[in-house]
Amino acid sequence: MIAGDGIGPEVMGEAVRVLTAVGGLEFEHLPWSASHYLRTGVTIPPDGYDTLRGFDAILVGALGDPRVPDNRHARDILLGTRTALDLYVNYRPIRLLDARLCPLKGRTPDAVNFAVVRENTEGVYVGVGGRFKAGTPDEIAIQEEINTYKGVNRIVRYAFECARARGLRRVCMADKSNAMPDGHALWQRVFAEVKPEYADIEATHLYIDALAMWLVQDPARFDVIVTNNLFGDIITDLGAALQGGLGMAASGNLHPGRTSMFEPVHGSAPPLAGKNDANPIGAILSAALMLETLGRAEDARRVERAVEEAVRAGEVTKDVGGTLGTREAGEAVLRRLG
Ligand code: NAD
Ligand code: IPM
Ligand code: MN
Repeated sequence: MIAGDGIGPEVMGEAVRVLTAVGGLEFEHLPWSASHYLRTGVTIPPDGYDTLRGFDAILVGALGDPRVPDNRHARDILLGTRTALDLYVNYRPIRLLDARLCPLKGRTPDAVNFAVVRENTEGVYVGVGGRFKAGTPDEIAIQEEINTYKGVNRIVRYAFECARARGLRRVCMADKSNAMPDGHALWQRVFAEVKPEYADIEATHLYIDALAMWLVQDPARFDVIVTNNLFGDIITDLGAALQGGLGMAASGNLHPGRTSMFEPVHGSAPPLAGKNDANPIGAILSAALMLETLGRAEDARRVERAVEEAVRAGEVTKDVGGTLGTREAGEAVLRRLG
């Protein structure tokens, strides 16, 4: 467990309580966070990624703190782990649990139920670039986007496999190949190459701007969306909003067969920290995703059902229309676990 910063420790506390009730897991808490960095100068120790590889799974709260304006510790701990452990899939399910939570008019849970498969190790996140004449009126800032055949191929294949494994019919690939003809031609090429191997699945393409529109206009048209790292980041906040807000959204950073990392989609929400106001559901659903990935699908469903019941009973935090605090919302889930 890396509880991290801001509301991270609070939401992680509820996820741990739920996992403890489900049982069969041992936890080790790692202190890596902004406070730890400011105290010790260490973001993640030199053997940190090896330490992480030694666990069956990693659960993260959130990282980000105004006292570390360059976000260095979060880059090392969060983005660094995604890269070092080669967690190339960022799996982000978007599921509306109760019609009341959707900001769109008249949408029922079956209209908002899809998954974003976000490439998680490439794109603009690779840190290739630099600044020249920084801080002067002549400053030049370059941040390169890296797309590799290997990287695009494996994420596109994962999206199709994911659709197949979950009995879903449609995969939509989103890029910006009209404006980025070099980098995103590779996405076009790979998608065209891979889709004939999955003739049972309907493969479509949208430019990312049009996809953003359709997500609001008619989210029911999507089952699985596959896209690059940055676009996936942006549309999953939009997706979180469709299910009630950032507090509801879960994610898994995966490399099938290897140690994977689970975290809510939201950040450290500094203004909410320490107030028992944060919604713990994103963290609890991320813990459920972890259980599923560890081969405990039935326990994962139990946790998801308990969350659903608590949500439908309105026993939730203020961001999703309830009156409860973080701990009480966690308890509402715990009580329903039986
Ligand atoms: P944020 O997700 O922390 O907050 C965005 C908005 O959503 C805020 O209004 C916040 O109050 C609300 N919100 C988020 N989580 C919530 C929850 N559990 N319950 C209720 N409301 C919630 O995003 P931000 O403000 O852009 O970023 C804050 C810090 O978090 C930054 O340092 C950023 O880099 C970092 N961040 C970290 C992660 C991560 O650790 N995976 C993800 C996103 C942002
Ligand atoms: C996310 C976050 C991170 C990202 C930030 C904290 C670097 O927004 O996990 O969605 O951009 O991947
Ligand atoms: Mn994000």
